[in-house]
Amino acid sequence: MIIGAMNINEARKRHTKLSLEIEKHDRAYYTKDAPLISDAEYDQLRAELTSIEQEFPELVSLLSPTQKVGVKPAQGFGQIAHTVQMLSLGNAFERIDVEGFTDRVAKFLNVPASDIEILGELKIDGLSCSLRYENRILKYAATRGDGQTGEDITANVKSITDIPQMLPDTAPDIVEIRGEIYMRRDDFETLNAEQARLGKDKFANPRNAAAGSVRQLDALVSAARPLKFFGYALGYVSAPFAQTQHDIRVHLRSWGFPQSEPVVVANHVDDLMSFYNDVENMRAELPFDIDGIVYKVNRLDFQERLGNVSRSPRWAIAHKFPAEKAITRLNAITIQVGRTGVLTPVAELEPINVGGVMVSRATLHNEDEILRKDVRVGDRVVVQRAGDVIPQIVEVIMADRPANAVPFVFPHECPECNSHAVRDDGEVARRCTGGLICPAQAKERLKHFVSRLAFDIEGMGDKIIEEFYHDGLIKTPSDIFKLAQKLETLSPPLHGRDGWGVQSVANLLGAIDARRTISFDRFIYALGIRQVGESTAKKLAGHYKNLSTLLTTVASSDELQSIQDVGPSVANDVIEFFGELHNRNEVDMLQSLLVIEDYVPPVVQDNPLRDKVIVFTGTMEQMTRSEAKARAEQWGAKVSGAVSANTDILVAGADAGSKLKKATELGIHILSEDEWMDLLKSIS
Ligand code: IVH
Repeated sequence: MIIGAMNINEARKRHTKLSLEIEKHDRAYYTKDAPLISDAEYDQLRAELTSIEQEFPELVSLLSPTQKVGVKPAQGFGQIAHTVQMLSLGNAFERIDVEGFTDRVAKFLNVPASDIEILGELKIDGLSCSLRYENRILKYAATRGDGQTGEDITANVKSITDIPQMLPDTAPDIVEIRGEIYMRRDDFETLNAEQARLGKDKFANPRNAAAGSVRQLDALVSAARPLKFFGYALGYVSAPFAQTQHDIRVHLRSWGFPQSEPVVVANHVDDLMSFYNDVENMRAELPFDIDGIVYKVNRLDFQERLGNVSRSPRWAIAHKFPAEKAITRLNAITIQVGRTGVLTPVAELEPINVGGVMVSRATLHNEDEILRKDVRVGDRVVVQRAGDVIPQIVEVIMADRPANAVPFVFPHECPECNSHAVRDDGEVARRCTGGLICPAQAKERLKHFVSRLAFDIEGMGDKIIEEFYHDGLIKTPSDIFKLAQKLETLSPPLHGRDGWGVQSVANLLGAIDARRTISFDRFIYALGIRQVGESTAKKLAGHYKNLSTLLTTVASSDELQSIQDVGPSVANDVIEFFGELHNRNEVDMLQSLLVIEDYVPPVVQDNPLRDKVIVFTGTMEQMTRSEAKARAEQWGAKVSGAVSANTDILVAGADAGSKLKKATELGIHILSEDEWMDLLKSIS
């Protein structure tokens, strides 16, 4: 199409397409040294992009290839610190929890509950994302991460048509819009069928598919995935433009952000409950997964006064739906062997639609669980699916049991390596004793090693691990970082095989190289030590600071147990792991192939209240004492009841008495209630 004849929408489409195309070629050229097109063809793409931008200057953003020099090396995702923390929500399950919520809100604000409007809307089961617009142009998009810092997914959301690249003139200079990236169920089924056709790993549910699709280092892969977005909250805003949560919806819709439906605004729990029930009844017919209703205090000035309790807002709550269920036949029970040798029984089901998603497998947890539920092959069973959780068998329909159904006999041998499978006293799990000779354990360890919270190697899915393990290309984690050399001598070469081309091999090696530098806590987590999950790994990293200190001092159980959350049993597993020679050798080998960064403690955002000790005294008129305390704590202050030499600030309301006197004597910083309010305003 001739540029002059395009309208803004057509121009935007073409602009996005060209930008992605150019980025692909930039990457091929700069980071892989493997140009895919001639210089002349490349120049032509850039020329077209430049003329579109001349005609439609609003399409120029910092992300545009015309504004960049080269490309960032493929190094995983950049980090973005959220200007306003991204919170999670407290949960309600029953009516009484919802009443508790509205009562708390009313008491905190000192306003009758009947005067407080609550907005109820769908709780979308996707992944939350913060979009920052500066001068009405999308500046960046970030995942929630740990709430303080998220991953930079700007390039990946560029192609989501529900996310406008530009806002209209009426939007403030800076505005952050928060919402949910999700995938429709029909799109999820299509994607999974395609994954299966290509021999790639399938996604467990639409939520995982959305998360996996956004977190693609190659934004072109994200672009090919059918992602959608609902905006539902604000982060930082340079100029307020809405008075209520409902206003936010109206504005966001007018700016081009789709809004989920239905929605309700009510000031009685009765009305909230009937909305909840109505939505639950239509849940399976909605085109996407929801896992409840979110209730939000409608007035934004109330929201601000209510503030947060630890990591959730006091002004909102999630009213969760029970898991979705269906009945189907249990065709077989198979046994899976995990990373630490645990044998897990899996229910192989007659495929069934559970709340819009096909389910053919479910976990049976362990031997005792099968006995307890008396699950037998041939039974009709109730299957449930709850959000991110693996589908489960809830119960057996005993009335339908076939006459010939026999109790399941749990194997005492590992189905993968035939080693003895033992069950220690007091443990529910039966474990394969094969250790290193058990291929299942080795493969699971490798899968864990490359997983998202560990080395996070893009594109190295279960299927590839299975394939490379089978070929002997990768037997231990360190082999992953020697893959390039191994492939050089592989005959016939990998790129000639089914599913592999020159480009896909280059992509995989690039993704591996991008992970040669790793943080100390991720490294510990990746080792897959029994009972050492993400959080314990962080604590160990925080304590030992670096790998060499850990290796020289880890044998001390007392020292290990001095670390928060590490008890005798975890300490024992850690010592045992590093005590094994083959583990030590593997760690040494990894150390020689990688850069393992020393532990860096997370940065806490500075503000005048952080770490201060505050005492409130006298009568406060503009907020209740509990609100004042909550606000102080929200900014990292400690609130104390008594004045001492340790006190940093005394906030004195009307008629303050002995505490004010003592604070004056001790020379403590004293604030009037007005000064306290001003201080809060200046930092929030
Ligand atoms: S409001 C202060 N509204 O649920 C919290 N969250 O379990 C602002 N979510 O992290 C969130 N639908 O990812 C809000 N309509 C909705 C939502 C919603 C889904 C997610 C969000 C949040 C999580 C908490």
